[in-house]
Amino acid sequence: MSIDPILRDAIVRRRTFAIISHPDAGKTTLTEKLLLYGGAIHLAGTVKARRQQRHATSDWMQMEQERGISVTSSVMQFAYEGYQVNLLDTPGHEDFSEDTYRVLIAADSAVMLLDNRKGVEERTRQLFAVCKRRRMPIFTVVNKCDRVGEDPLKLLSDVEADLGIDCHPVTWPIHADGNFIGVYDRRRKLIYRFERSEDHGATRADVQVGSLDDERVRELLGAEAHERLTHDIALLDAAGHPFNQTAMLAGTLSPVFFASALTNFGVEPFMREFVELAPPPTARESSAGLVNPADPAFTGFVFKIQANMDPKHRDRIAFVRICSGRFEPGMQVTHVRTGKPMRLASGQQFLARERSAVEEAWPGDVIGVMDRGTLRIGDTLSANGNLEFSGIPRFAPEHFARIIAADPLRRKQLDTGLRELTEEGAAQVFYTSGTDTLSPTPIVGAVGQLQFDVMLHRLEHEYGAPCRLEKITARHPRWVVGSKAEIERIARDRGRMLLYDAKGHPLILFEDAWGLRWVLERETTVTWHEVAP
Ligand code: G4P
Repeated sequence: MSIDPILRDAIVRRRTFAIISHPDAGKTTLTEKLLLYGGAIHLAGTVKARRQQRHATSDWMQMEQERGISVTSSVMQFAYEGYQVNLLDTPGHEDFSEDTYRVLIAADSAVMLLDNRKGVEERTRQLFAVCKRRRMPIFTVVNKCDRVGEDPLKLLSDVEADLGIDCHPVTWPIHADGNFIGVYDRRRKLIYRFERSEDHGATRADVQVGSLDDERVRELLGAEAHERLTHDIALLDAAGHPFNQTAMLAGTLSPVFFASALTNFGVEPFMREFVELAPPPTARESSAGLVNPADPAFTGFVFKIQANMDPKHRDRIAFVRICSGRFEPGMQVTHVRTGKPMRLASGQQFLARERSAVEEAWPGDVIGVMDRGTLRIGDTLSANGNLEFSGIPRFAPEHFARIIAADPLRRKQLDTGLRELTEEGAAQVFYTSGTDTLSPTPIVGAVGQLQFDVMLHRLEHEYGAPCRLEKITARHPRWVVGSKAEIERIARDRGRMLLYDAKGHPLILFEDAWGLRWVLERETTVTWHEVAP
């Protein structure tokens, strides 16, 4: 089969990635600096100002009323040195939810951002696990190098031990008199010596570039820093993990970069290497085998739904990651789950902070499709028959609560709201008897606490069903497959609770991890699953 050269060119130039990090590692700051170097914004400081409004829950609600902003920042597209970069935003703060995980499914690689004093933290670990399961290439950026942090060699050996991944430093920090003054790029064999800008990093940092044996560079660094760098590089060359592209693409070796997003030092050397090293969109698994991005027929899947953009109309935007072919407005596709034809009237594209209609889009790109409630997370759109992309995984909630309607007469609105929020992926709902809505009090599950606040707010404002929550102490769910009698017997013990999910699959909630482990080891007449089977 001959490949359309325009399609092929679009694919090789696409880089679609997400940043994973623990709150406060500097994701917002780095995102902004990438946009600055990508020419999508000219002055850093705007995205950040927005984030600051997000700290408190009430501010978040206000944010939601200005949804336009949060949507446009969900996907940021910009050009960099001939590449088209799609940066998918992973909501990372208190508003941590299943959304965060799902965004990773739509990305082709991940950038793991670490604080140079803290290394791997809890949230990083959770998100890393998702990337690892998917064998995604993972790049590491050690941030905040302008402050004294952990010794770089020690930090990397901790990352390796903690996450079970090999690290290969592509850039290495240069310090002089305790100050971070630049990085050395081992692939290009170039030194970048930065100057701090007067505007606290709002614009690009001045940089001088030269090789290690350049006399001028030695002077710029100072003899001591130069000597230390030469020594460090020799050590890394002799004792470090060599670069290995196969291992990088399989996600077992992480290229590492050192930077300060605040001062911009090291950001551009990272960007330059990243676009070269990170993979373009590759083949994705589907029910009909691997789908190659260069396949001329359009395919894509919905990985996120943003509902009620305008509360007056029940409009929703479905975010579709394109897997193959070319998108053009007005094209006909099949909505595979229902088998119905669907016309993609116009897609929305996300260029930094502005939303505009797209003329065309390619594999790796994300388009926003206006939808009146047909599309669900995980749905495939295909101009290539009935293939379906392997399901977007569900994630087990970590918090559970009974949801009680403030006005019992509004139960119908509550049920509608819960059903729609479940379809959208904003909630998971459970019932205490298998006959779903007849059960007296539905139970909701969330991956993060703020997901509950969002649910309550939306149930009240969008569905007219004000509710309150009654937290449940049990928080370790396991789906269970086996005979009804056996399941009921196991669930009867203290500290356990039998529930049914929206599809009627039974699960048992355990109060503590120890009790859960104990049961998993002993009860082998049934099978256990971490997420819905
Ligand atoms: P997040 O999105 O990952 O949560 O992190 P964010 O960018 O908001 O950064 C968290 C804090 O870390 C901010 O400080 C930010 O300025 C700081 N920071 C980010 N990158 C760097 C860096 O390279 N070096 C240093 N020294 N600090 C960095 P803050 O005090 O919470 O906010 P602000 O008052 O500085 O705005």
